[in-house]
Amino acid sequence: MKKPHLISPSIFSADFTRLGDQIKQAEDAGADWFHIDIMDGHFVPNISMGPFIVEACRRVTNLPLDVHLMIEEPDRYMQEFVTAGASYLTVHIETCPEMDNTLQFIYDSGCKSGITLKPGTAVQEIKPYLKDVALVLVMSVNPGFSGQSFMPEVIPKIKEIRNILDEINPDALIEVDGGINPQTITQTMEQGAQVFVAASAIFNHPQGIRAGIQSLRDVLL
Ligand code: DX5
Ligand code: ZN
Repeated sequence: MKKPHLISPSIFSADFTRLGDQIKQAEDAGADWFHIDIMDGHFVPNISMGPFIVEACRRVTNLPLDVHLMIEEPDRYMQEFVTAGASYLTVHIETCPEMDNTLQFIYDSGCKSGITLKPGTAVQEIKPYLKDVALVLVMSVNPGFSGQSFMPEVIPKIKEIRNILDEINPDALIEVDGGINPQTITQTMEQGAQVFVAASAIFNHPQGIRAGIQSLRDVLL
């Protein structure tokens, strides 16, 4: 079955004085999901937003909310993100010592589960859990900030993960996050990525949000 190719704008680079309007613009321009970056100042050296922003997004769009938890001890906070309206909850292998329990909680909550890994973490670390997830997020920058350059050394991981998923969990989607633009979409899509997260390429596009989304859509197969 052919898998979809989807754009998930990261609101991290949106103008927060008019977040609802920016989300609506992105939706009208063809966004498929919205990616929400949760940072705690511990797991990553930056602080972003909490469940209340997820809840605010939920009130302005019916599209899937793709919540990326870059926080220590995510198990302590996951229920709040579920209640706020998350559709996907993605956790880092580096923060989950009992990943089986964490994924079971997400599954039982009715959310779709995602697993992710930093650029320096080997695919081997997430392999035991790949059969149980709906989404695998391959980080293509060190998490913490938008506007960083794509790290080409992560490209082989996408193919490696796609090959494993094709054997044991073919419906799972691969998402890439960090430095995504028309060029890096093409490179990662060729290796088997389906969902493309972009913050600055969309919200900081010189011609606006619509042009940003269109520039990414134009290269999707
Ligand atoms: C980085 C975040 C990304 C970030 C992407 O830690 O997980 O989602 O917002 O930003 P760009 O697309 O600007 O690299
Ligand atoms: Zn992210």
